[in-house]
Amino acid sequence: MPTVTSADTMTRHEWAAEVRRLARERDAVILAHNYQRPEIQDVADHTGDSLGLSRLASTVEASTIVFCGVHFMAETAKILAPEKTVLLPDPNAGCSLADTITAEDVRAWRSDHPDAVVVAYVNTSAAVKAETDICCTSSNAADVVRSVPEDTEILFLPDQFLGAHVKRITGRDNIHVWMGECHVHAGIDGGTLRERVAEDPDAELYVHPECGCATSALYMVGAGVVPEERVRVLSTGGMLSAAKEAEADKVLIATETGMLHQLRNANPTTAFEPVNSRAECHYMKMITADKLLGTLREGTSEITVDEDTAARARRAVERMVAIGTPSRGGE
Ligand code: 13P
Ligand code: SF4
Repeated sequence: MPTVTSADTMTRHEWAAEVRRLARERDAVILAHNYQRPEIQDVADHTGDSLGLSRLASTVEASTIVFCGVHFMAETAKILAPEKTVLLPDPNAGCSLADTITAEDVRAWRSDHPDAVVVAYVNTSAAVKAETDICCTSSNAADVVRSVPEDTEILFLPDQFLGAHVKRITGRDNIHVWMGECHVHAGIDGGTLRERVAEDPDAELYVHPECGCATSALYMVGAGVVPEERVRVLSTGGMLSAAKEAEADKVLIATETGMLHQLRNANPTTAFEPVNSRAECHYMKMITADKLLGTLREGTSEITVDEDTAARARRAVERMVAIGTPSRGGE
């Protein structure tokens, strides 16, 4: 039997060369989310945010997509590119936010609001997307909501903090919000943010809208604790675009810590520091160097979405991909 080398016994350089060789052999493109481990981000063909990666999934030419991210992201890629093989190096890489709502929950909620439009964050299962009118990501949520006529009720799911943010910036009061949350971002709460800002009062602040502290950040602006121009609520791709142009000495980052790798590479003259250094998504970190190698060698962990569900979800996902600024952070 041929010897199969594990990533643990290879140098980083040997591992990366083997990953690239296997990807070529398999006609695969490797897409990685901004929260992935640094070595996975570096070896990928493209690293980006949910919207950028979804757009890439629907346009890349390779016959196989190896998605280094979590399950709902690989499912979204499969919905957008049904003819491609989509591989997720660990199929157990889930999402606590996506787990807060089921397709049955959406049907029941809609039956109480029959005239409402259902807007679902991309962090949902394919079955939930199939019950949805239009999906969004954190980078285009406000634009998606604005695409719905002003007098139409909206059921926004499943993230309560993103929902509150969208309500705030669109000024609409006919949005009902599902009370789900991501355990990682909910843990970056107002108290943690206030302590961190007190330690570094001159730093700028980039806050992901899924964070429990998004409201506190804007409250601090309102109370004059932090000047308005120093606080930005951004998707991970938006953070990367902002970092490239940042001139501040220090920026505090309220999101999953994997983001710091991209930001520090993009702008070595600004110090990017986490608001909460323990904000790590263990699902995202389930994609390891060894599992990526294994998937590329064996072609295992294929993600499938049954045809009926995919067909019902596709319209909502395609509308999401079409709305908002061109790909951010997906280059
Ligand atoms: P972005 O769309 O900002 O990349 O956020 C994705 C996400 O929530 C993963 O946790
Ligand atoms: Fe889901 Fe939160 Fe992890 Fe993102 S960080 S994949 S929302 S559990």
